[in-house]
Amino acid sequence: MSKSSPHVHLIDHPLVQHKLTLMRKKDASTNSFRSLLNELAMLMAYEVTRDMPTQEVEIETPLEKMKARVIDGKKLVLVSILRAGTGILDGMLSVVPGARVGHIGLYRDPKTLKPVEYYFKMPQDMSERDVLVVDPMLATGNSAIAAVARIKALHPKSIKFVCLLTCPEGIAALHQAHPDVDIFTAAIDRQLNDHGYILPGLGDAGDRIFGTK
Ligand code: URA
Repeated sequence: MSKSSPHVHLIDHPLVQHKLTLMRKKDASTNSFRSLLNELAMLMAYEVTRDMPTQEVEIETPLEKMKARVIDGKKLVLVSILRAGTGILDGMLSVVPGARVGHIGLYRDPKTLKPVEYYFKMPQDMSERDVLVVDPMLATGNSAIAAVARIKALHPKSIKFVCLLTCPEGIAALHQAHPDVDIFTAAIDRQLNDHGYILPGLGDAGDRIFGTK
């Protein structure tokens, strides 16, 4: 993984890049798009959780006692921005099965491109937890900014934003609104188009995950 600027972590592992390329292809089937996203999310979870705190505990192997490391503190919270976030959530949960899950429902008004909230449900004790907000596409940044603001009001210990793809406009917008939130992504594409889509991108992530178009 390389860090392209202090707040953006570009996950450039060859397996991640290969799978992302397969997903971008316009003729990838819904089935393969979804399973590739699942695999990618598992690989990304591995990098994103690299700095999770651990503590030593004493255990007993069949041969002797030893001190070994386990993850410390309250369970991580994965917050999925509906609906496309679900695609990343499933893969991440297979790597961090004990994580708690929050959902935030935001849709993008097609005229203003502004987020409209329709659902918000988070686990208890957010102030004692680290949060990973997941959404495959960080495009205009509007949904990400709104989601992070809502979560911040619950005072979690930390917030990271995990996406598959972003662009300079999305990074700048999220960073300006929330400079304390690091962004993890598999690619930074060229630009946004006038409809708020990332170019070259991969199209509408939600439609491609759920086969709705
Ligand atoms: N959301 C998507 O699904 N795709 C984009 O390119 C931008 C936002």
